[in-house]
Amino acid sequence: MTFRTLDTADLAGKTALVRVDFNVPVEAGKITDDTRLRSALPTIQYLTGKGAKVALLAHFDRPKGKVVPAMSLGFVAQPLAALLGAPVAFAGDCVGDEAAKVIAALPAGGVALLENVRFHAGEEGNDPAFAAQLAKLGDLYVNDAFSAAHRAHASTEGLARLLPAYPGLAMRRELDALDAALGNPKKPVIGIVGGSKVSTKLDLLRNLVTKLDYLAIGGGMANTFLHAAQIDVGASLCEPDLADIALEIIDLAAVAGCTLLLPTDVVVAKSVKPGVHAQTRNVYEVQPDDLILDAGPETVKTLLAAMDASQTLIWNGPLGVFEVPPFDEATVSAAKHAAKLAKSGKLVAVAGGGDTVSALNHAGVVGDMTFVSTAGGAFLEWMEGKDLPGVSALNT
Ligand code: 3PG
Repeated sequence: MTFRTLDTADLAGKTALVRVDFNVPVEAGKITDDTRLRSALPTIQYLTGKGAKVALLAHFDRPKGKVVPAMSLGFVAQPLAALLGAPVAFAGDCVGDEAAKVIAALPAGGVALLENVRFHAGEEGNDPAFAAQLAKLGDLYVNDAFSAAHRAHASTEGLARLLPAYPGLAMRRELDALDAALGNPKKPVIGIVGGSKVSTKLDLLRNLVTKLDYLAIGGGMANTFLHAAQIDVGASLCEPDLADIALEIIDLAAVAGCTLLLPTDVVVAKSVKPGVHAQTRNVYEVQPDDLILDAGPETVKTLLAAMDASQTLIWNGPLGVFEVPPFDEATVSAAKHAAKLAKSGKLVAVAGGGDTVSALNHAGVVGDMTFVSTAGGAFLEWMEGKDLPGVSALNT
């Protein structure tokens, strides 16, 4: 795909409609993680620095086409203004006179945040009439919301077809990092896929085995693979119904020349509680009442050696129940090793997805990875090899 770049845009005196993802986590009315606000700052500052007015389009939660006051984006304006060090006007509607008036009143280089686009049914319906109402408010469109790019909505897709459309700086960085990890990577490439269930990651596994040199499978989903290989996983989380699909993925990997790394030893306990008595066992020695809660040291050793032999790593999903120590050991060891290799320039290490970011934070290595995507659904769909409508719409 090819994209326009903002440095070729005529910005002074223009209004840029900038799609951002401000779907931030909130507890008791307070933002608990402002990463998504921070990631929008470079694009906003670039545009305002060139004398453009910026009107921010965003969604919050899932109001399903109705005005739900508790899902107003108003609460974001002040924290955003504080991060920007500049005022942020708020418009109580994202289309019509209210939005037009607020934008008209902005000085050159001013910023307005428009109300939740999902208050209008036309947003999720990608209604051309609603997209046209949005388009009327600006001269150009910038999409800086990779994490919403898997949605073909009016503000992520339809609008890009009505105005000159540009990826924002955060979107561009994300696309470049993803391309370096899976689109056009330095080989060999290793993937780590963990998490609890195979059922949520079938398409992802099928796609990855055709692209990677090594694929390490961890977390609860590894149990389904062990079960499919006739290994007893005791009382562990397992999806026996998916044994055939696990075997199909094992075959696909063999045909594609992808080496699957399944656990050879595991850490088990009788319950998932902090400080519970944990034991390491060979996978062939799991007892009927054992719960497999982490990968064992031998498995981790094999994984680290495969990382050493690789030039690129793509990671989604933890290797064990990392929230409950000591079942965080495999995830933390793998994360620290990846970060060390990335820091010394030996490995391009890209990771993403909700749990993965928490796991890397837990290991204290987010800053040392080459790139960590905070996108959830969009990152997974991209790993599945699916077309992201919000990205395709920016293709020139
Ligand atoms: C996210 O938080 O992952 C994105 O903002 C997408 O939100 P959605 O799943 O409600 O479309």
